[in-house]
Amino acid sequence: MKKIFITGRYGQLANEFERYLTKNSIDYIALEINELDITNFKSVVETIKDCSPSVIINCAAYNLVDQAEQDYLIAHKVNVLGPRNLAISSLECGAAFVHYSSDYVFDGAKIDDLYIETDSVNPINEYGKSKLLGEKAVFDITSSALIFRLSWVFGEGKQNFIYKLIKWQENSSFLKIACDEFSIPTYTEMVVEVTMKSLEKSITGLYHLTNTDYCSRYEWARFILKKLGINKHVHPVSMSIFNLPAKRPAFSAMNNEEICSLLNIQIPTWQESVEFHIKKYLHSF
Ligand SMILES: NC(=O)c1ccc[n+]([C@@H]2O[C@H](COP(=O)([O-])OP(=O)(O)OC[C@H]3O[C@@H](n4cnc5c(N)ncnc54)[C@H](OP(=O)(O)O)[C@@H]3O)[C@@H](O)[C@H]2O)c1
Repeated sequence: MKKIFITGRYGQLANEFERYLTKNSIDYIALEINELDITNFKSVVETIKDCSPSVIINCAAYNLVDQAEQDYLIAHKVNVLGPRNLAISSLECGAAFVHYSSDYVFDGAKIDDLYIETDSVNPINEYGKSKLLGEKAVFDITSSALIFRLSWVFGEGKQNFIYKLIKWQENSSFLKIACDEFSIPTYTEMVVEVTMKSLEKSITGLYHLTNTDYCSRYEWARFILKKLGINKHVHPVSMSIFNLPAKRPAFSAMNNEEICSLLNIQIPTWQESVEFHIKKYLHSF
């Protein structure tokens, strides 16, 4: 019988795993940062040894993209050392290991097509650098890990663009949203389902996991407001006007065909998943 060990409890993705595993009566343990700090090697090894899981899923991460420009030491500790510690533990207890990376490993300079797994990486901010080094740290320990690169993750909770957009529009007469930043909104429910299917098939390696189709942040914002029935003017602007500490890739949309063909599945478009999510959680916005 599978026993799943989840880090980063109460994050968006970990929440979704908990919902899925509870609903499907799968045995799991999920720990938050105060119960298990993934940067603490001794505590990671001992805790995981005690639990003796068959699968370790790392949902913990340092995700504050702008803050990471200053706090890069913390970002690197959580996003590089953390997954490394977990990968070592997975080997020690013979568990499968799943980790998540990001589209920000790319610089956004590819203009002719979506990014595929074998494209060259070149992160342009500290967060992206830490996520790339995290991938490498894991594969240096074990080649049998499974890593998915995600982008613009949304699910239940407050740390995502949908929730933030709803709050911004409550306090302003119009919104300015970047129309020159492109990627793919990616739904936590889909990520959990594809991860579980991949584990069933013992898939290992590095894959891009996103919803299908891509958009600018401006298009995403317009779509969300339309589906919520909110009539607010959204002004398209260049992301440069926000003067954010971290540079973002202009185009970081990734191609999900590799994992789709391995699992013989189709992944819904981002529009389908955003609409589904908004209907499901309308009461909580
Ligand atoms: N969110 C996105 O748009 C996005 C885009 C691309 C890739 N990803 C990747 O997708 C994965 C899941 O992201 P998510 O959106 O679910 O992230 P999230 O909501 O920010 O959750 C991350 C969780 O990790 C916890 N954490 C931070 N440092 C930790 C530590 N040292 N030990 C244990 N837990 C720690 C956080 O706790 P605190 O809240 O208390 O800090 C938080 O609960 C991550 O690998 C992320 O890098 C996310």
